[in-house]
Amino acid sequence: MTTGSVLALDLVIAVLAAAGWLGAGAAAAAGRRRIALGISLGALAFTLARAVTTVVLARAGWWFAAEKVVIAAPLALAALLAMVRPQPVALFFAGYAQTAALLVTLLHGYPLSAGVIVLTVAGVAAATAVTWRFLSPRRPRRLSRAITAVTLGALVTGTGLAAATGGASPVPHTHQAGAEPTLGEPTKRFTLTAGARDDGAWAFNGQVPGPQLTATVGDVLEITLRNRDIDRGVTLHWHGYDVPNSQDGVPGITQDVVRPGQEFVYRFRADQAGSYWYHTHSASDLGVRKGLYGVLVVHPSAPAGLDVALTFGGEPVSASVAEGTPVRLRLINTDNSTHRYALAGTPFRVAAIDGYDLRAPAPLQDTAVLIPAGGRYDLTFRAPSRPVALTVDNRVAWSTGPAPPAPPGRPVLDPLTYGAAGPAAFTRYDQQFTLVLDRGLDLKGLLPRWAHTVNGAADPDIPTQVVRRGDIVKFTIVNRSLEVHPWHLHGHHVLVLSRDGQRSTGSPLWLDSFDVRPGEVWEVAFHADNPGMWANHCHNLPHADQGMTLHLMYA
Ligand code: C2O
Ligand code: CU
Repeated sequence: MTTGSVLALDLVIAVLAAAGWLGAGAAAAAGRRRIALGISLGALAFTLARAVTTVVLARAGWWFAAEKVVIAAPLALAALLAMVRPQPVALFFAGYAQTAALLVTLLHGYPLSAGVIVLTVAGVAAATAVTWRFLSPRRPRRLSRAITAVTLGALVTGTGLAAATGGASPVPHTHQAGAEPTLGEPTKRFTLTAGARDDGAWAFNGQVPGPQLTATVGDVLEITLRNRDIDRGVTLHWHGYDVPNSQDGVPGITQDVVRPGQEFVYRFRADQAGSYWYHTHSASDLGVRKGLYGVLVVHPSAPAGLDVALTFGGEPVSASVAEGTPVRLRLINTDNSTHRYALAGTPFRVAAIDGYDLRAPAPLQDTAVLIPAGGRYDLTFRAPSRPVALTVDNRVAWSTGPAPPAPPGRPVLDPLTYGAAGPAAFTRYDQQFTLVLDRGLDLKGLLPRWAHTVNGAADPDIPTQVVRRGDIVKFTIVNRSLEVHPWHLHGHHVLVLSRDGQRSTGSPLWLDSFDVRPGEVWEVAFHADNPGMWANHCHNLPHADQGMTLHLMYA
């Protein structure tokens, strides 16, 4: 069982236990003793089962179990002790304890704070005291007054403490004047005009996806962005292309948003070959969904054979290609979720991932690849005499003739074990950061929201990561939530060190977009060699929008 499924199972059990104890309390209060006994036995079983899931999660990593060990377990133990004198109020107490612990998991998560612990205990005590007042006519007055007073005090203190924690340094919204290297005359010029189409799409030059930008290593690119009438504003972010900070296209961080009637000129040297894409970074969730994105391909030299880039979605493409022609399919997942790509009819290699060539990729056959949101895989092969078909989630997206039947149940490539290992890239780490991804209640804005969080906070309250130029930086990224988070750091490629403790043993993997699945722990590292202020976010863009965005800044 994966840690992700234990996380889900633990939640289900917690809900059942809480409901069980509350139900048993209600039955007991109504005088239905046999029913109360039956339900409480079930609740007891679920409570004990949680001991097992908690231990399993704690062994997978403290991040997954902290609040379950520190809050839920002691409360459950206290509730079980209260059961020594089986009274309705004891059953209710157990129900409140389980419910409160569940709320901590759902709304607060990791890391725990003293305020939340005090608040939880006080909440359980308050609910129990109120219940007790209701249920027992002969309660000792003094005692119940004392309990109420202590509880109120604790609630106030806890609320204060909980509100006081998590103050983050706000992101300084300065416009970095990027240290521009002398670029020389542009050798490739493009103009992208963003505008709304009659069909409701937002398009660059009227096209969705926008025009493909193609260059050769050494080119100096000049891209003029114009905004005709997109009210939310536009920018161009070169996804995966490690441009100087001033060209990165993040509004409010690296430039001002380009409003209707305005323009912005991007200039950078094409010094990385590979498959990339561009998209607006202004209201990016909406903007990309509406169509403001396109392909960027940089060739190392003049391409030979057939070279095609495919964004996600769109009509199936059929191509004709002579036998023996070298083919490169650049698969670009421009969507918000992972997709499964598979090639039928030929052996192939995964020549590159996220623009970086893999070392000694072996031929694959009948193997699928899972491409994260934002990620790119280049598949290469020589055209065989018979047709070849590429499927995305089992639908044909590109083919050279009638599709050969896809063999069912193809294995999925694990890039961490594919290709040949290289020499160790890093031997020291100057800075280490842990990012625990989760959901939680965000009270900082005007309206409380159930945000996508990093270390318990949501954008703009997630502390900025500060590094120095030249640092080797390590990220440990932990997914405590039940959803996949495709992680994306701007301006740098990160080297994968390990996933769930399993070291990367294949070709060095330099990624800019990688899926951290529920329950997974990734360790990645990078060389801080591109000064500026960089976005660091989940590339499921609605998640990024709902809090899962932070920044990396050079001191
Ligand atoms: Cu492709 Cu900040 O994103
Ligand atoms: Cu996400």
